[in-house]
Amino acid sequence: MLQRPRRLRKNPVVRELVAETRLSKDMFIYPYFVVPGNGVTKAIDAMPGVNHFSTDTLLKDVEKGLALGVNKIMLFGVGDEKSEDAHSAYDPHSLVPVAVKELKKNFGDDLYVVTDVCVCSYTTHGHCGILKDDYVHNDATVELIAKMALNHAEAGADMLAPSDMMDGRVAAIRHKLDGNGFENVAIMSHATKFASSYYGPFREAADCAPNKGDRKAYQMDFRNGTEALREALLDEGEGADILMVKPALAYLDIISKLKQHTDLPIACYNVSGEYSMIKAAAQRGWIDEQKVVMETMHAFARAGASVITTYHIRDIVEQKWM
Ligand code: PBG
Ligand code: ZN
Repeated sequence: MLQRPRRLRKNPVVRELVAETRLSKDMFIYPYFVVPGNGVTKAIDAMPGVNHFSTDTLLKDVEKGLALGVNKIMLFGVGDEKSEDAHSAYDPHSLVPVAVKELKKNFGDDLYVVTDVCVCSYTTHGHCGILKDDYVHNDATVELIAKMALNHAEAGADMLAPSDMMDGRVAAIRHKLDGNGFENVAIMSHATKFASSYYGPFREAADCAPNKGDRKAYQMDFRNGTEALREALLDEGEGADILMVKPALAYLDIISKLKQHTDLPIACYNVSGEYSMIKAAAQRGWIDEQKVVMETMHAFARAGASVITTYHIRDIVEQKWM
């Protein structure tokens, strides 16, 4: 007898019946860039539709998002003082902790606030850590990262997302948090973050490009999938609550591999360059933005991601693509 899989594709109703992957608004996290000042809404050139916000305009935009079901956000601070020792990264008066306090004051538990924990926007050289002879010193950086994490937790962050790729930072953050009464603050580690050229537009947005060298001595080599699993399992052992793969689209195999080897939720970060490529092609009329975006989001979920961090989510909800 001829096998006829097309039977279950006959019409939209039966296709819905057998769809294996379904998205929900609950899966998404929307990244924000917070800058100093008042009344600032400044478009980021290389990321159409994404802005720099000061804390006051951020609150207004978050409120709009919340009304549409975007209730999880990730914060990046841009424009605090830069120094060799990155001290503003753990200053309670810097942009992120102040914004977190305001957000929590206004929205309480209706809004889940994730913060990026990394020092590259706070170092004069733009590397994700403390430099010693042009090499990012692991253990000195981990100490700094743990202090930064505590700073965000004290401000009220619900979840911390370390993106530095130092060895042992998840354990150090967990230890610091638990020792200070923040045992319920979660950690979503950028467990497998690759040294990627897809971060280009973000580095403009976050003003964090290294002024010398690259990040290959700490972020992962994109040729390595087995090592990615090792990194992920180390973070699981150190106490991470969610494991993130970044970037997402060129790394679906990594998402799928982690999904098969851990019971923790897997997140992906659909990064700036991935976003901008779709935006640019759509603006030229070369692709159908809605269809390409939704196909992409389903691909993340199909690969095994149950948490998706993406700049597209505001378009998705505002234009009712989902
Ligand atoms: C820096 C950081 C980067 C991103 C998030 N945090 C860039 C980098 O590592 O150079 C990229 C996010 C994006 O491209 O959307 N720690
Ligand atoms: Zn960094």
